[in-house]
Amino acid sequence: MKTEYDRNKKKTWPTKKAMEQIYDQNLWGGNKDEFYSGSGSHNPIIVEPYLEVVINFLKSFQEPITVLDLGCGDFNIGGQLFAFSKKFIAIDIAVNVINYNKAKYSHNNLEFQCLDISKDDLPKADVVILRQVLQHVSNEEVQSVLNKLKEYKYVILTEHLPNQEFIPNKDIISGQGIRIKSQSGLIITESPFKFKCKKQQELASTILDNNKGVIKTWLFTL
Ligand SMILES: C[S@@+](CC[C@H](N)C(=O)[O-])C[C@H]1O[C@@H](n2cnc3c(N)ncnc32)[C@H](O)[C@@H]1O
Repeated sequence: MKTEYDRNKKKTWPTKKAMEQIYDQNLWGGNKDEFYSGSGSHNPIIVEPYLEVVINFLKSFQEPITVLDLGCGDFNIGGQLFAFSKKFIAIDIAVNVINYNKAKYSHNNLEFQCLDISKDDLPKADVVILRQVLQHVSNEEVQSVLNKLKEYKYVILTEHLPNQEFIPNKDIISGQGIRIKSQSGLIITESPFKFKCKKQQELASTILDNNKGVIKTWLFTL
């Protein structure tokens, strides 16, 4: 029997159209002529601790490593990281934000590609960054992305979660919103994903004001 969720899902846009519309209509904020990935990508309270731990991780290698930034968005984050890498490949499904980034950022170790990370083949790299991306997509798309991550040695994952006990991994329709609206959040090691790794380490945790949840970053060694 079809549930309310199945009926709504049939009516939805594909993820690419949904994400491009978010940028066209500034649904995550920002000025009209600006591409803006939301306060999670700009609020210093969230961004600064994240950059500190990720830069420390990148600097911990004797030789700089190759980074794959999946769902790079407006590149306010990646733009502050690529200097610490050998090569930095930034990918997003939204062609408008990729074109904006290509016009704004240019460096010989930096490359932008417009791909759907749940469907397309992904470039090789030493570490994958997935920052506040999976929280916006359906469990089916999350699973397809997780299947591809097995090819990499390190994954740095950031997710926005409720700050009280919650039922993880409730399904959503891919788009602007996240699971927190239904008192849920993504925990990839839990059912139905049961993502396997050699080691999982929490790198950063920022509790947001006004009961808006917590932003957590983990390093997975695969
Ligand atoms: C909230 S933004 C986060 C941007 C950036 N990672 C950051 O932390 O600033 C989420 C981004 O994921 C991208 N995205 C969502 N689904 C995707 C997919 N299937 N393939 C590639 N990018 C995707 C969206 O277009 C959007 O730019």
